[in-house]
Amino acid sequence: MPHVILKTSDFSREIFLNNLPVVYRLENYLVKFNTVFFDAKYETALVETLIIHNGRPQNFYCRITRHDNGKVVVGLDPLPKIERSPGVQMAVAGLGFWVKNRLPEAEITQTNLRRYLQVLECPREEQSEKFRELLTYYRKTVQRVQYRAIGARQVLAESEFLQPCHWDYLFGNKNPVEIEIGPGKGRFLLAEAEKRPEVNFFAIEWTGRYVRDLLTRLGRKRSPNIRIAHADAAHLFREWIPENSVQAVHIYFPDPWWKRRQAKYRLLTTELIQNLEKRLQARGTFCFATDIQDYFTRVLEMMKNFPNFEKAFERHYSPEDAENPNRSNFETKMRLKGRWIFEAHWVNWLGESITS
Ligand SMILES: C[S@@+](CC[C@H](N)C(=O)[O-])C[C@H]1O[C@@H](n2cnc3c(N)ncnc32)[C@H](O)[C@@H]1O
Repeated sequence: MPHVILKTSDFSREIFLNNLPVVYRLENYLVKFNTVFFDAKYETALVETLIIHNGRPQNFYCRITRHDNGKVVVGLDPLPKIERSPGVQMAVAGLGFWVKNRLPEAEITQTNLRRYLQVLECPREEQSEKFRELLTYYRKTVQRVQYRAIGARQVLAESEFLQPCHWDYLFGNKNPVEIEIGPGKGRFLLAEAEKRPEVNFFAIEWTGRYVRDLLTRLGRKRSPNIRIAHADAAHLFREWIPENSVQAVHIYFPDPWWKRRQAKYRLLTTELIQNLEKRLQARGTFCFATDIQDYFTRVLEMMKNFPNFEKAFERHYSPEDAENPNRSNFETKMRLKGRWIFEAHWVNWLGESITS
């Protein structure tokens, strides 16, 4: 594992503030450190890294960890798994060097990357000129290259749910969060994330095939405000999503699972609604649509048992209704079959007295 160990007691977000993105030219590699994501205690930082070699881009994350003994280790994040090519090693070394420059007392100890560090030594006077050249070159290059999929960070694996959820860390900003449960092929998710870049969208999908489809589409679109969980929404709402932290929850066209023996698969249960109530912020909304009228009626009845939820909106529209465009793949499919659509939104008033 390529890594750089810096001996220092100071490591904080200030060293990154107003400094990123950084672009380096290392031999014939172009390295860019883009954005940094911190954990809640500022003990681990993930640095979004891009290298371009012969016009080919590669995205991955470098990880900076501060240990209790004062050591700061700069290494490669294991996700996504990538080959440790000289370019990757140089990027890690470059980041170590860059961090060291901001922490003058840091000392680089036992590193197998020392040889790459020498490449970075460059007289200060020449640096700003070189920097300008690089930026021009970089801008020209990225216009020509196609970004590959953003990388595994956009999909959260099961093990990540063992750690507490911090939206700021996950998205790298403090924007409000909306959740879509069961995005399927993701038409609503992708369109909405593009329309509202100031909102973070967290999608929970349990079917692997759809998660893979979503990733392919994300690779093409590169939406920075989307994260996907390959997981059971009921579980995440029960165990993982923080209380009072979500601006809206969207559920569109869930499978009805009519038969009694299939009831265990039903998404909209009393337990889920209880958890929606807790996880939504005061005045947060729950938006629901289906093509199955009986299901809709059942959900309306269930929601009446939750007095903190006030129905803000209800509409039924015909398959030909041009005023309501199709929001998802399932909606298109159902309208082509001639089915009506039933939709309602509820506002959550729980916690209103605390926040107002
Ligand atoms: C009928 S599809 C609708 C997809 C999409 N919303 C649309 O309108 O095109 C229902 C989706 O919900 C997902 N789903 C069902 N139960 C789920 C659960 N407990 N957690 C996460 N996803 C779930 C399914 O995998 C499927 O993608």
